[in-house]
Amino acid sequence: MKKLKILFVTSEAFPYAKTGGIADFTTGLALALRARGHEVRMLLPRYGFISERKNRIHEVRRLKELPIPIGDRIEYASIKSSSIQNPKAKVQVYLTTHPEYFDHRWGIYTDPDTGEPYKDNHERFIFFMLSALELCRTLDWYPDIIHCNDWATALLPVYLRTLFRDQFPRTHTVLTIHNIRSQGIFPLSPTFALTGLPQSAKELLTHRRKCNFLKAGILTAHAITTVSPTYGKQILEDNKLSGGLSQFLQQRKDHFYPILNGIDTTIWNPRKDKWIAKNYDIHSLDRKEVNKKALLEKARLEYYPERPVVGMISRLTPEKGLDLLQKAAPELLQLNCQYVILGSGEKPYEEFLKAFATEHPEQVGVRIGFDEVLAHLITAGADMYLMPSRSEPCGLNQMYSMAYGTVPVVRATGGLIDTVQDFDPEKKTGTGIVFKPYTVKALIEALQRAIELYHNKSLWYTLIRNGMKQDNSWETRVKEYEKVYAAALTA
Ligand code: GLC
Repeated sequence: MKKLKILFVTSEAFPYAKTGGIADFTTGLALALRARGHEVRMLLPRYGFISERKNRIHEVRRLKELPIPIGDRIEYASIKSSSIQNPKAKVQVYLTTHPEYFDHRWGIYTDPDTGEPYKDNHERFIFFMLSALELCRTLDWYPDIIHCNDWATALLPVYLRTLFRDQFPRTHTVLTIHNIRSQGIFPLSPTFALTGLPQSAKELLTHRRKCNFLKAGILTAHAITTVSPTYGKQILEDNKLSGGLSQFLQQRKDHFYPILNGIDTTIWNPRKDKWIAKNYDIHSLDRKEVNKKALLEKARLEYYPERPVVGMISRLTPEKGLDLLQKAAPELLQLNCQYVILGSGEKPYEEFLKAFATEHPEQVGVRIGFDEVLAHLITAGADMYLMPSRSEPCGLNQMYSMAYGTVPVVRATGGLIDTVQDFDPEKKTGTGIVFKPYTVKALIEALQRAIELYHNKSLWYTLIRNGMKQDNSWETRVKEYEKVYAAALTA
């Protein structure tokens, strides 16, 4: 394939800013595409918590104070430079700074002090999207593809089809939907006026009398992707699950490509992971136990060789199954296992988990917050990994777990269906434990089944090895994205 110029525009990218899988996606895919010879660059906002020193972020003289019109005002973006790399590739990263919108914000979308979304999110991300186009113009670097991600960048296709059409005649857009439930919904006034878009675009942005960024992106991107085949089918068919956007996806059906996410196996690899207590692979699984001990020590839990540890790393929302977990709590405690849970999110679930740990200090360890190092240790040290999601666009942690020989226990929805196959002890096939109904009973039975298998070492190691042998690396998936780019270029 012809080598392309690709600009990733995203509100999250690992290691700078991460609340969820989108950050791993953008960095992983960008590096995988670069390794295939494409010229890839990335742009994200420089939020207040991103350390310039730690991330080697530099000023670029000619990218200082770029004028960006916001409604009838002019704001100024200064864009800084950095890079990400893995052993196979290096990608140029740009970061948009602005004193008001980003420099002093300690959250990405929500204020960590109040737990509420920032009141000016529409304005912040309009500014950010326009800074992407201003960046290309100033550098005189016109990408073949601008790859947008979720609502925060979903107006770029609209800009490129209207205001910027003449200046970017060869640039095409791809929009990836990581989670269709966040759509960027704002009051029409003043939002529409702030976009600076021509009146003729108003209809495109309007949905249920509000401004809806994601809807506009779906209608105007040259290609739309989502992160697993099953989720793709679900959001096309289930208008409730898609938050009312199914009709628009159906309109764009011929340009809609569900593609399973990959994982970056240079970062998520038990053989090389520098954040875990002891490296191991499929031939040295006994060393995994060292990680279990280290994890339990960190969680202040006693180590019992015969007691499995169930790990969980999650945003604490009902979508991820937190309501089910809460309902199941008394029965979870009856099972002969321990729990180590890491996550942050909705306050009531944070409170519930804190109490769960304080009241059962011998069985439950909880850390509220975001901790990438602990996330790696949980992935390596737990015996099982629980993902009781109500819905799941793709999910990456089940793939990380399988790569680490940690057995995923998942509910059958979205990308979890596409990545985890239920274990059959007769045929010895399958990579995890899958349950279907979103009920306490089904969840507990799944864990019981996992615990029973855990005590049958021969079956258990078969299950573990089946998972470790799966190839979920980006290398195997990146070609799918190349096909989408090719399709976008001719759309
Ligand atoms: C979002 C989704 C998750 C997906 C990730 C990366 O975080 O909730 O399922 O894996 O994006 O695409």
